Amino acid sequence: MSDFSPTVTAVSSAVQKVDADALVLGVAKGPDGPVLLPNPLAEKAAKGVSDSLSALGATGAADQLLRLPGVEGFKTETLVLVGVGKLTGEPDGGVSLESLRRAAGSAVRQLSSAKSVALALPAATVEQVAAVAEGAALGAYNFPHFKSSQKARSKTPVAEITVLTELKDKNTAPAVARASAVGAAVRAVRDLVNTPPSHLYPESFAEEVKTQAKGTKLKVKVWDHKDLEKEGFGGLLGVGNGSSRKPRLVRLEHSPAKPAAHIALVGKGITFDTGGLSLKPSNAMTTMKLDMAGAATVAAVVAAAAELDLPVKVTGWLCLAENMPSSTAQRPEDVITIYGGKTVEVLNTDAEGRLVLADGIVAAGEENPDAIIDVATLTGAQMIALGLRTVGVMGHENLREDIVGASENAGENHWAMPIPEEAITGFESTVADLSNLGAREGGMLNAAAFLREFVPDRADADQTALDPEEKRIPWAHIDIAGPAFNEKGAYGYVHKGGTGVTVRTLISYLEGLTR
Ligand code: BES
Ligand code: MN
Ligand code: ZN
Repeated sequence: MSDFSPTVTAVSSAVQKVDADALVLGVAKGPDGPVLLPNPLAEKAAKGVSDSLSALGATGAADQLLRLPGVEGFKTETLVLVGVGKLTGEPDGGVSLESLRRAAGSAVRQLSSAKSVALALPAATVEQVAAVAEGAALGAYNFPHFKSSQKARSKTPVAEITVLTELKDKNTAPAVARASAVGAAVRAVRDLVNTPPSHLYPESFAEEVKTQAKGTKLKVKVWDHKDLEKEGFGGLLGVGNGSSRKPRLVRLEHSPAKPAAHIALVGKGITFDTGGLSLKPSNAMTTMKLDMAGAATVAAVVAAAAELDLPVKVTGWLCLAENMPSSTAQRPEDVITIYGGKTVEVLNTDAEGRLVLADGIVAAGEENPDAIIDVATLTGAQMIALGLRTVGVMGHENLREDIVGASENAGENHWAMPIPEEAITGFESTVADLSNLGAREGGMLNAAAFLREFVPDRADADQTALDPEEKRIPWAHIDIAGPAFNEKGAYGYVHKGGTGVTVRTLISYLEGLTR
């Protein structure tokens, strides 16, 4: 795994002396053509660039990148114009924080041959400085570890990021440090998701998490195959049975002195999903190394909570298994017993995520946290419902809305999707408590309804209450199936492959609990 991490700093004095390979300015799409955004160039130089925008072909469209010779008065060799997209028409200059993240990320991503980049994008407030820093930290990424040539392997992304600002505010440095930590968390998820299943399997995943937790205050506990058998984790065992690489459950804990709340995060960690005996067709099987993105997200968010010293107790539960067909694989019509005792008739071995998550949700609930949030690449139906860039958030109404609100602050698209009453119909089994296969229509919501059956009651629940929702631990389910992996072209700060989506939303959600 990579230990690459760019340095990110904000500089507010003598910006002309900043020695970087490239100086990036923003160009927006104005109502009457391209507009050069506020920048630290001398008036004459700025006018020169501004006047030639149209002639240079600059449109201000997002992801457009133009390289020009350096300008007088700056030490940088190259002047770079990056498109920021349409102006919002707001009085704050009309550039949203997310367009700043994307523009900074796009520039740093596309300038990968540069060692150092200085960004002169709108940065007049702490929020704007933070957005530019965060976008840049997200753009600085590559994954060359499996290339054979030394040359390819030693290529690093932009390693030195400088955010130019006039702002002198004591809150800038911590905001930039936070942006850098968020960037590291997202890159960690991308690395795990991009690592091929030949190299990432339950045992190696658990080892990697242990390695990364060394030297931090995080507590790590790993259940190996024997432990899972002893304690009856039937979901993980059933799904993992077809593979010679046995399942693992990992519990991570960030435990500050006076926590404002305890949030449990549960992640789906199928290191490869062949579908099992309900085998996927080969075209649907490629990309299925992504199926552990939920667990990677959970691991990275717990680590970020520790790194940022958030005053919230966070426990992370990684449900790790490889879903393979073999003579030891679970069969359609097998009945398994989920941790805690509920039985499930497995009618489709490709609906495996809900089985391992059920184990994890019950185990997380035993500690009576204030909320349980699971993150999973759970259903193909997520993509049919919401597309490739919008994450679905289901479950407890207030919790769901809080997560969606946090995603708006973070600049990620998460949509609330209430679970309709009928979603659980179809999961009836004639032999077990439930089957794992519901209706095809509304598959994302049905899967959520299945998971909800495993959410334990609060320790202090009023057992006479009739509404089960009142008794249950508040629970939300986040389906990242499509957005977790970018098979199409790179854009903004999003590279091809693993995206690290939902990391920023969850960090922002945890931060919001203490405000
Ligand atoms: N891991 C898949 C879901 C998935 C599909 C994620 C495509 C990302 C991209 C999951 O385990 C799965 O196979 N789900 C089935 C469920 C069905 C059998 C009820 C699906 O969505 O088809
Ligand atoms: Mn599957
Ligand atoms: Zn799966």
